[in-house]
Amino acid sequence: MNVVVTGASSGIGKALCELLCTSKPNVKVLGIARNELVLKELKSRYDDKFNYLVVDLSKLDSVYEVVDTVKSSLGYVDVLVNNAGFGIYKDVLSHEVKEVIDLVNVNFITPILLTKELIRFMREGATVVNVITAGIYVLMCKLPIYGASKIALHYATEVLRRELRRKSINVISVYPGIIKTEFHRRAGIDNVRGGVEADEVAKAIVKAIEKREKEVYIPRYLKILKLLGPKLIPIS
Ligand SMILES: NC(=O)c1ccc[n+]([C@@H]2O[C@H](COP(=O)([O-])OP(=O)(O)OC[C@H]3O[C@@H](n4cnc5c(N)ncnc54)[C@H](OP(=O)(O)O)[C@@H]3O)[C@@H](O)[C@H]2O)c1
Repeated sequence: MNVVVTGASSGIGKALCELLCTSKPNVKVLGIARNELVLKELKSRYDDKFNYLVVDLSKLDSVYEVVDTVKSSLGYVDVLVNNAGFGIYKDVLSHEVKEVIDLVNVNFITPILLTKELIRFMREGATVVNVITAGIYVLMCKLPIYGASKIALHYATEVLRRELRRKSINVISVYPGIIKTEFHRRAGIDNVRGGVEADEVAKAIVKAIEKREKEVYIPRYLKILKLLGPKLIPIS
């Protein structure tokens, strides 16, 4: 199984790479992020099972570096996990323009572009996993531009699932609640309490890939948010 994981250097993405490399005998993981030290350390632990690419996914050209690396190191892709993402705790109007662009690029445009460019390396039965957030079902007043970028990803993912059904490619939306990762500290807040371990999210993603599920909520009770959330009735 050949898997591409963005955001492989920390939190959910790192836990997923570790789980795949320890639990799947014939896996090849391509981990993508900027922090080379962590990626190198994963490579030293998992050897042939793990390769990595250091790129900044806020720069849209980085997608073509991913394509070249997939071509040379994997050949084909069974699973693409669009997991890289970040937030910034700021009011809408306090954001610098570059922050808005980077948030939208990393959280929304890059996952769509990567899927578009990597689809030709996918065969029938492949999977695309988009890590969104359960926060799209509420109004995240502390993370407004992050929330906007993730609701865009949610919306596009709903339609993408219908488009890729024809090719028998499964699309999984992942909606984590609060997860114990670096996310909140990096976003600018230190006092987030509680939350689920990143390992639990990794396990739920692997199970969803194997069972060809469509949606993953972590913790599972968060699925109730769907009742409150945006009602997207498909029209053509
Ligand atoms: N933690 C939560 O409570 C929570 C809740 C809901 C959804 N999520 C979502 O879960 C996903 C994973 O986040 P996490 O919680 O695991 O956070 P994390 O520990 O901060 O990890 C984020 C990952 O994204 C990568 N990344 C960020 N910006 C990047 C860029 N410009 N280029 C390349 N890679 C970049 C980081 O790598 P480098 O810094 O090395 O580049 C890192 O590997 C994100 O999409 C996030 O929105 C998290």
